[in-house]
Amino acid sequence: MAVLDQLTSQEAIDLENKYGAHNYHPLPVVLSKGEGVYVWDVEGKKYYDFLSAYSAVNQGHCHPKIVEALTDQASKLTLTSRAFYNDVLGAYEKFITSYFGYDRVLPMNTGVEGGETAVKLTRKWAYEVKGVPENKAKILFVEGNFWGRTLGAISSSTDPSSTKGFGPFMPGYEIIPYNDLNALATALKDPNVAGFMVEPIQGEAGVNVPDENYLYDAYQLCKEANVLFIADEVQTGIARTGKLVCCDHSGFKPDILILGKALSGGVFPVSAVLARDEIMLTIKPGEHGSTFGGNPLGCKVAMAALEVVRDENLAENAHELGELFRSELNSYIENSTIVTLVRGKGLLNAIVINDTEDSETAWNICMKLKENGLLAKPTHGNIIRFAPPLVMNEEQLLDCVAIITTTLKQFE
Ligand SMILES: Cc1ncc(COP(=O)(O)O)c(C=O)c1O
Repeated sequence: MAVLDQLTSQEAIDLENKYGAHNYHPLPVVLSKGEGVYVWDVEGKKYYDFLSAYSAVNQGHCHPKIVEALTDQASKLTLTSRAFYNDVLGAYEKFITSYFGYDRVLPMNTGVEGGETAVKLTRKWAYEVKGVPENKAKILFVEGNFWGRTLGAISSSTDPSSTKGFGPFMPGYEIIPYNDLNALATALKDPNVAGFMVEPIQGEAGVNVPDENYLYDAYQLCKEANVLFIADEVQTGIARTGKLVCCDHSGFKPDILILGKALSGGVFPVSAVLARDEIMLTIKPGEHGSTFGGNPLGCKVAMAALEVVRDENLAENAHELGELFRSELNSYIENSTIVTLVRGKGLLNAIVINDTEDSETAWNICMKLKENGLLAKPTHGNIIRFAPPLVMNEEQLLDCVAIITTTLKQFE
């Protein structure tokens, strides 16, 4: 078989099983094309994408403006490293800082690198600005957090599938209960606490939405304690929850904002950490970086991706369609024995299946959804996340609701 022969789905799956590490458990569907809210498998079957590559493809698959930015820049200059200047990075830095309202940006590639960067910045700020004694800085995280798979990230994890077999872990972390202001207030009494890092809505943990006042009050508690509020908006940011970033719902600006995924519309790994001068300027030349971070290709892609979000009013669309989605699902649930709950904000939603966490029901429902033309994936055992591209229209959303409810009925 020549490498570029068109494979059948089974052949593609067999190749991955034989030659790839077994670090994922994908739904058995092999995709070869995407456009807007749709993807196609190698046999030509069309699906609604209801995951959007974990909220990276908010702007829809292969958005022509983003792809044009990519291909234009790809034939001019792709990478210089930061050993030299390039003629795109500065313009991008100006663009993204004014877009989100921060003094400065530190460009990286993946979401987890954004998190690592935020943790390092926070530690540096602790020693140089707050005056925490050397090597004593502490960062608070919450139970159920997810920010990637590096040792820095899993050291804050409470999920055994992230941690088991990978110790020892990073010191200087404390993990407190989520959505618990008393626990936060108690932890903040330690003067060596430098930062509190949190996802405004926990994505991987199952779209856990905190109480209405939690984020704002947590931010105020951090302010009073001179502790940096670090918002991990890698999944919730870029219009996903119906605002540009999810903290906008709560009316405050985090001290450090981490973005990734949809910052590039899913076209290229681009992440960013945004902060004010006092924090960002603690890192000096040679102290942090990445060969690819700030490359001209990623910068051009990110500018195009952010322009699409603004020009196509994706936050407003996510808000309106999210309301419609939850109201349709809520009326279905009234007479359902299989679904107990729908929750979320904007177009980041999940349903909770009425079965145990270790049951196969959510997986089986996703398999049936696939057969019926919609792709979604369980997050944790009995929870299915629904996060379609934000370029969806009302008619398509209602079509998807029909597929979901028809499928669920087969499990009642
Ligand atoms: C909230 C959050 N932070 C960080 C990450 C890590 O991003 P990446 O996989 O691009 O490293 C993820 C990935 O799912 C995430 O959901």
